[in-house]
Amino acid sequence: MRTHLSDITLAYDEAGSGRPLLLIHGYPLSRKLWAPQLVGLPDAARIIAPDLRGFGESDAPEGPYTVDQLADDCAALLDELGVREPVVVGGLSMGGYIALAFWRRHRARVAGLILAATRAGADSEAGKAGRDAAAATARAKGSEAIIDGMLPKMLAPSAYAARPEVVAQARRVMDGAPVPGIVGALMAMKHRPDSTALLAEIDRPVLVIHGADDVLIPPSEAEAMFAALPQARLILVPEAGHLLNLEQPASFNAEVRNFLLA
Ligand code: MLT
Repeated sequence: MRTHLSDITLAYDEAGSGRPLLLIHGYPLSRKLWAPQLVGLPDAARIIAPDLRGFGESDAPEGPYTVDQLADDCAALLDELGVREPVVVGGLSMGGYIALAFWRRHRARVAGLILAATRAGADSEAGKAGRDAAAATARAKGSEAIIDGMLPKMLAPSAYAARPEVVAQARRVMDGAPVPGIVGALMAMKHRPDSTALLAEIDRPVLVIHGADDVLIPPSEAEAMFAALPQARLILVPEAGHLLNLEQPASFNAEVRNFLLA
């Protein structure tokens, strides 16, 4: 489905009924990331999964984007869909950065947070330089170069030989990411604020869930967020890397279901 917001058309999937659950994908991904949740959780929630601006079937205007703008796009989508009640906001990786921005800007709309494979801190200086280098690569060589570089870091190291169908699925989730979206999102991540101090203020339930074998964002980041959050549950999913919801959908869905019903 597609809907026009004030300056952009966003594509999204919707499934299920009941408590609204907004699922925000990471970089350089698309809403296809959430296929196992759209199939596995419609009895537990009304799932709304957008393609962020710059990705999937949404418009990809020239950036730079900001995490605040991406969070505001999600809030505008909820408005457009008539969702007035507080929602559980779930985000994976960059989607988690956006979920924290959503909390900062729209906290009255938040019933709870799911922070998957993400971190609260800002980029280090080396990390910021890495964003610039990746943006230069995307502009010079196209999005395939970025996707080829990201794919080997997305899953648990053991998955690459053992689970070719999951590797193919991870690639499909990234395929077609346009260069303006990639560069716009890199700049959004580069300039995102440090949300560490915000964690202590989050007086809603939070599920912190992370792959035990994540090589892109180490599980220690999840442990640090859990320690700083007043009302959190921490789950480390075994045999899962960065895209834990794709790699271990049964475990991921069971934890989300428990969280929604708690
Ligand atoms: C993501 O998976 O969303 C990004 O790789 C996160 C990041 O680069 O910080």
